[in-house]
Amino acid sequence: MMLIIGANGQLGQCFQQAALSRPGITFLFKSSTELDITRFAAVSKTLHNLAAQYPELWVVNCAAYTAVDKAESEPVQARRVNVQGVRNLARVCAKLGLPLIHFSTDYVYHSKQNTPFVETDSVHPGGVYAKTKLAGERAALQLHPAKTMVIRTSWVYSAFGNNFVKTMLRLGAERPHLRVVWDQIGSPTYAPDLADAVIQIHQQVATGKIAMESIGGIWHYANEGVASWYDLAGAVFEYEQLACTLEPITTQEYPTPARRPPFSVLDKSKIKSAFGLDIPHWRTSLQKCLKALSATSKH
Ligand SMILES: NC(=O)c1ccc[n+]([C@@H]2O[C@H](COP(=O)([O-])OP(=O)(O)OC[C@H]3O[C@@H](n4cnc5c(N)ncnc54)[C@H](OP(=O)(O)O)[C@@H]3O)[C@@H](O)[C@H]2O)c1
Repeated sequence: MMLIIGANGQLGQCFQQAALSRPGITFLFKSSTELDITRFAAVSKTLHNLAAQYPELWVVNCAAYTAVDKAESEPVQARRVNVQGVRNLARVCAKLGLPLIHFSTDYVYHSKQNTPFVETDSVHPGGVYAKTKLAGERAALQLHPAKTMVIRTSWVYSAFGNNFVKTMLRLGAERPHLRVVWDQIGSPTYAPDLADAVIQIHQQVATGKIAMESIGGIWHYANEGVASWYDLAGAVFEYEQLACTLEPITTQEYPTPARRPPFSVLDKSKIKSAFGLDIPHWRTSLQKCLKALSATSKH
């Protein structure tokens, strides 16, 4: 049984969609209005009740404060969700012995390194969002080390919510010319691929193929391949045959309240070899996303 918390966010909705084609797995979904992770009493009551009903419960935390730039002026709010909320979940999961899957970010790696990051590399979060995400993952791992799986992911997009791909689609159709940053390099992640990877990991543990103890710790997940934001925008325009022209610009030419790492490519060897995951290239998944978006716009 998988309990998806923050179920109406981008990743949460991808789990909702994945659940439709997985009738063999029981999913439960809690939106932010149904369960606010910053309220310890509510978290405790909900998880106690569900754990009594479903002894095999897994808690998947998709809830987060994700407004990277706004976090610079709302550090208290960001910390409340990304640190205190995660601490609440980890405390209760530890007490009840429940596995906790939690997501973090490539933005914890803000340094001069220009080779793919492995999970043991040192972290240098650059802004409030990244700092709160790092504090949250550390709190979860400290409170519940054996059964907390922290998955650091990057550049997440899907047909749901607001994300870079959807913004490029909209602006590419509205404007003749766009300037996009080319000196930040990372790996785009199609959120349904990430949800699918988590479900595969759950299934491997549920069927006894992998020991529960092996999920603990930090893991990386993103699609294969690397790109700049300029490359990603270019691929969207290419696949959608948008006439909008693209101009590569530097981070300096596009200042934002929060600094972003110049290079945050995640090495995924650990998760691939531990769980035998076959991760699609970002271009393959981008085309899937564009297809999904065009199918929904035709309805
Ligand atoms: N998006 C990216 O590019 C990216 C990159 C790297 C890592 N990540 C990580 O991936 C995870 C999923 O991100 P996402 O893109 O799905 O984010 P998202 O679309 O912003 O979804 C976050 C969800 O959390 C909910 N939430 C906020 N505060 C809450 C609270 N106190 N209690 C319960 N729910 C709360 C939000 O509900 P409301 O809408 O009601 O506020 C929203 O539904 C996050 O941990 C994020 O840090 C994302």
